[in-house]
Amino acid sequence: VVAENAQEIAQTVAAEIAALIRERNAEGRSTVLGLATGNTPILLYRELVRLHREEGLDFSRVITFNLDEYYPMQPDSSQSYHYFMHHHLFDHVNVPASQIHIPDGFLSRDAIADFCAAYEQKIQQAGGLDFQLLGIGENGHIGFNEPGSARDSRTRLVRLDATTRRNAAGDFGGEDLVPREAISMGVATILEARRIVLIATGSKKATIMQKVLHSAASSDIPATFLQLHENATIYVDTAAHASL
Ligand code: GLP
Repeated sequence: VVAENAQEIAQTVAAEIAALIRERNAEGRSTVLGLATGNTPILLYRELVRLHREEGLDFSRVITFNLDEYYPMQPDSSQSYHYFMHHHLFDHVNVPASQIHIPDGFLSRDAIADFCAAYEQKIQQAGGLDFQLLGIGENGHIGFNEPGSARDSRTRLVRLDATTRRNAAGDFGGEDLVPREAISMGVATILEARRIVLIATGSKKATIMQKVLHSAASSDIPATFLQLHENATIYVDTAAHASL
């Protein structure tokens, strides 16, 4: 879907999420959301906060699972995705802390495999992801599934691509200071969501979006795996659509 601008996309996607939450609330059921970080979803989170404040959108039955976290990373560091999510969304809506899940970037290395297996299990126990929100890296990564990530990959420790670390340099005060690894949901974890929405805005995403839509599904560009999903929508603004 091509939209005029990023705000229009934020409103459309927030309205879809809100409708899902309201429907589930009316049935007394939970809504399981897979959430993303980065600049792209900030407007969408702002809109969800507005819907909570102004229209009483009730997050008390929402269960969230974030895609990824840097490793190593302390949760209270301002560069962490923990911090990002609380700052942009969780501190402003009524989702109970016990229903928030974000990969733990502060585990000892030998605890990571068990943590990742438990993360997958918790998603299953919650009933699976109803809705997965995605941004995209300039190299086509989703979450931190960098090029080379397999279709059947699961939550795991990943090595970050040079492009990804270069793009994050500004947040860390230099490329050398960007963590070399991350914990990320896998491609298979993402594809099991019943609904997926990827948002790409701004001219920096135009080249990769052309490739995502016109290349066969493969690990070379992990976002192409969305072509295999029955209920995925990609929203681009006119800037990200420029070279399509
Ligand atoms: C990071 C995140 C991704 C996100 C990407 C793009 O790499 N792990 O989930 O999609 O950044 O970020 P932005 O939206 O700032 O372009």
